[in-house]
Amino acid sequence: MFNRFYRLKWMFAQWACSCVWCPGFSRSWSRWKGIFASWILSPLLIAITAGQSSAQTATMSDQEIESKVQQLLARMTLAEKLGQLQQVEGTWIGNVRPEQIELARKDLLGSVLFVHGAANTIELQHVAMTESKLKIPILFAFDVIHGYRTIFPVPLGDAASWDPGVVERADSIAASEASAAGVRWTFAPMVDIARDPRWGRIVEGSGEDPFLGAAMAAAAVRGFQGTNIGCPGKILACAKHFAAYGAAEGGRDYNNSEVSERTLREVYFPPFKSAVDAGVGSFMSAFEDLDGVPCTANSFLLKDVLRDEWHFRGIVVSDWNAVNELISHGVAANGKDAAGLALNAGVDVDMVSRLYSQYGEQLVADGNVSADTIDQSVARVLRAKYKLGLFDRPYADEAIEKATLLSPENRAAARELAARTFVLLKNDHNTLPLNRTLKSIAVIGPLADDAQSLIGPWSGDGRAADAVTLLAGIRAKAPRAKIAYAKGCDVSGDSRAGFKLAIKAARKSDFTILAVGESAEMSGEATSRSSIDLPGQQLALIQAIHALGKPYAIVLMNGRPLSIDWIATSSPAILETWFAGTEAGNAIADTLFGDADPCGKLPVTFPRCAGQAPIYYDHKNTGRPPGSGKDFSGYSDIPWTPLYPFGYGLSYSQFKLSNLQLSAARIPRDGTMGVGVDVENVGARAGDEVVQLYIHDLVASVTRPVDALIGFECVSLQPGESRHVDFVLGPQELGFYNQAMRFVVEPGKFDVMVGDNSQNGLKSSFEVTP
Ligand code: BGC
Repeated sequence: MFNRFYRLKWMFAQWACSCVWCPGFSRSWSRWKGIFASWILSPLLIAITAGQSSAQTATMSDQEIESKVQQLLARMTLAEKLGQLQQVEGTWIGNVRPEQIELARKDLLGSVLFVHGAANTIELQHVAMTESKLKIPILFAFDVIHGYRTIFPVPLGDAASWDPGVVERADSIAASEASAAGVRWTFAPMVDIARDPRWGRIVEGSGEDPFLGAAMAAAAVRGFQGTNIGCPGKILACAKHFAAYGAAEGGRDYNNSEVSERTLREVYFPPFKSAVDAGVGSFMSAFEDLDGVPCTANSFLLKDVLRDEWHFRGIVVSDWNAVNELISHGVAANGKDAAGLALNAGVDVDMVSRLYSQYGEQLVADGNVSADTIDQSVARVLRAKYKLGLFDRPYADEAIEKATLLSPENRAAARELAARTFVLLKNDHNTLPLNRTLKSIAVIGPLADDAQSLIGPWSGDGRAADAVTLLAGIRAKAPRAKIAYAKGCDVSGDSRAGFKLAIKAARKSDFTILAVGESAEMSGEATSRSSIDLPGQQLALIQAIHALGKPYAIVLMNGRPLSIDWIATSSPAILETWFAGTEAGNAIADTLFGDADPCGKLPVTFPRCAGQAPIYYDHKNTGRPPGSGKDFSGYSDIPWTPLYPFGYGLSYSQFKLSNLQLSAARIPRDGTMGVGVDVENVGARAGDEVVQLYIHDLVASVTRPVDALIGFECVSLQPGESRHVDFVLGPQELGFYNQAMRFVVEPGKFDVMVGDNSQNGLKSSFEVTP
């Protein structure tokens, strides 16, 4: 019964949100719908739902929410308040555990991790809403990283699109699926800058660059939360892991990071700040020890920067069991100490350690944690629940879930968006796209028919069974061609037993597609590698196929930059496809056959080998810049340069940049500079080019990077078409943190480069005057 009642509210809220608040609808239609909603339907539903319409919930003012929060706080015991700060895990497959039922009944459960699916969430929510004293809805959290059931490319792949629109759309669909399944809080986006390919979690972020990372962070927040988080289909996002988790020493997951305040502010903070500016509702503190203070107990990060400088008002949640891990870090002697440190540092919600609930009352009684600190944290949680509309619409709906998950539209979007993330690294003699008249194709490699890897290492409720493998995609795309499939070898291991069949298949086919890389479980959390070579016998397999002297292309699937020196030198074509999600096979086939242009660019440098790590394009010059003789900052055994630079990627078409113009030769410190360039498609096919703008501040009071991305634009062009692209640079782009850690613009000369990657472009310069 409660279900039907709430479905009505849910449907109305969804409809009302779409007409009144969400962009993308024609203005006049939405105005009429808005009038209809507010004058006719709304009063009707207000009556039906005992005086509280969903539309009202979605637009409840901050003041109204505040007064409701304070009223509720006044009715809560300290134990109940601590319950709101407690997050307890469900089973790995999403079921409710008996402990949670008990806690919910006693008003001791604020949020739950992993419980997902409409039926599961309704089961637990029903207890909280009908059997507890306070009737505070539970907030269901889940890691919806790159899709809930319809899986999109891994975040590193999404970033390779260099198109925030791709990220926003994918995360918006992910949010609609997740919320239909009762999940209203995702632990995404991960906005950690990562410059070390050994670190497995590089797959979860947007790569190495703060500017690109900031653009993607904001896009993800918009996608998950929309313009009004109270609208059905929207969920609370979480910027994680604050901060510098990606700087783990040696690329070893969970390891300490030693990062200066300057590097924090210039490299690691910008995506987090961008998430705050985009209105992100929550933050997660990182696991690691940052310069001697674990992030879970780090009040510089969580108070001075996040609350006082950035004015963030949302929830801060710890990472998994991280409050308890303060004991292993050696800053807390026991669980009580650990809970006190985290609460006082500004961690509102304790993910799974249960230490807040266990020791919170004692800590307040002893005066180690103030009652006000607890109240503020609880208020943040309650505020989020009101904003999400949970008090009004606490339940998911199985019918809506069924209609939403893996819908044909969502699959179509996954296919289209995935194709925008592929990076063409090499294409000698136009090996690609493939000719449709090919009579026979060999599809070879351990990843050619591996559905599990395609959905990536952190795939929400995604299922391998839903995923289209490369083999299936090629079969569907070339129904008349004879397809010979051979695995060749496993991703790792020593066996070459499958080589014979693979060579035979390649020998008798007109063209060979070789799918190699990493399996999904080699990327992600706790999957650091000391080598970033192609694992196992894969390189030997490629070399065996290469030796046949017949045409072939490499399709890479992986979650980190790989060292692929041999294939970069010897193989005719390489398409980087990351782990591209549920529709990966179709999207790759679309690209291989030229129905989609590979328009992605690398969001991260590809080194020659792991020994170059950490490696990134916006390095400092040093006192002995590479290339200046014997005693320079390089290596004696390999070039210091990357294999493929940041921003690099080919297209099936060719583009020409010309006519770089600056609006002035000089600007004052607080002035703005216009940078314009023409981009033309000089090839024979339609395609997209990402125009990238970099600057170099030549002389400053602190050393500046040799190049820093400060603008980009993705432009779609027909053959022969050209477009003018404009950028505007102001103090934000030209400034930096000086020795006193103040953000300043200093006078002097700046070099500008507009190019198609971080190493190649048209150059000019200008001066900032005192
Ligand atoms: C990860 C987080 C994740 C959390 C909950 C942790 O191990 O570091 O990124 O959100 O688990 O699943």
